[in-house]
Amino acid sequence: MTLTVAIDGPAASGKGTISKRVAAEFGFAHLDTGLLYRAVGAKMLAGVEPIEAAQTLEAADLTPENLRTAEVAQAASKVATIEQVRAALVDFQRAFAARAGGAVLDGRDIGSVICPDAQVKLFVTASAEVRAERRYLELAGKGHDVTRDGVLADVVERDRRDSERAVAPMKPAEGAVVIDTSTLDIEAAVARASQFIRAAL
Ligand code: C5P
Repeated sequence: MTLTVAIDGPAASGKGTISKRVAAEFGFAHLDTGLLYRAVGAKMLAGVEPIEAAQTLEAADLTPENLRTAEVAQAASKVATIEQVRAALVDFQRAFAARAGGAVLDGRDIGSVICPDAQVKLFVTASAEVRAERRYLELAGKGHDVTRDGVLADVVERDRRDSERAVAPMKPAEGAVVIDTSTLDIEAAVARASQFIRAAL
């Protein structure tokens, strides 16, 4: 069985946690596609030309610890507007989606561009204020030097860049189920996502 679950949505919507949890529950592989763009963004900050960085990306570049900073997130959303960067990352994502045993991919364009035939498509969202508060607590908890206003401004800027770009803009895919986590706790959101996956098995 090669069931593909596409989970898209903006930053700090809960899509990453939901993806991890349902992948573990169903025994599916999980790919956080944001890491690909973050890795390219980090290389750009280090002086590498982004298209070349995307074309030569290796598994060793995808170390989440170094890539979860606000600076890398902004760089990621900039390189993600470049058509050739996105094109260079398509095959890897599609091969991952097709692996035997099922796969969950989370990102911005999984249901719309990477896996339009995914059996399950979810779009996980929440208000910008709720998402910024979550991201603030996460970053502050890790000891990053952040302010609530700064994190909210970052979230709003990244949302705008991601949803207004010409190539593969962030939007709910056709047929996607929208899960708004503004007032749902993580358990309830995971339960809802599981329910849609179970129905597709
Ligand atoms: O999900 P995450 O916040 O790690 O993504 C970082 C950035 O990578 C996003 O703001 C977006 O610009 C880009 N991205 C994308 N398409 C994806 C995943 C991430 O454009 N499928």
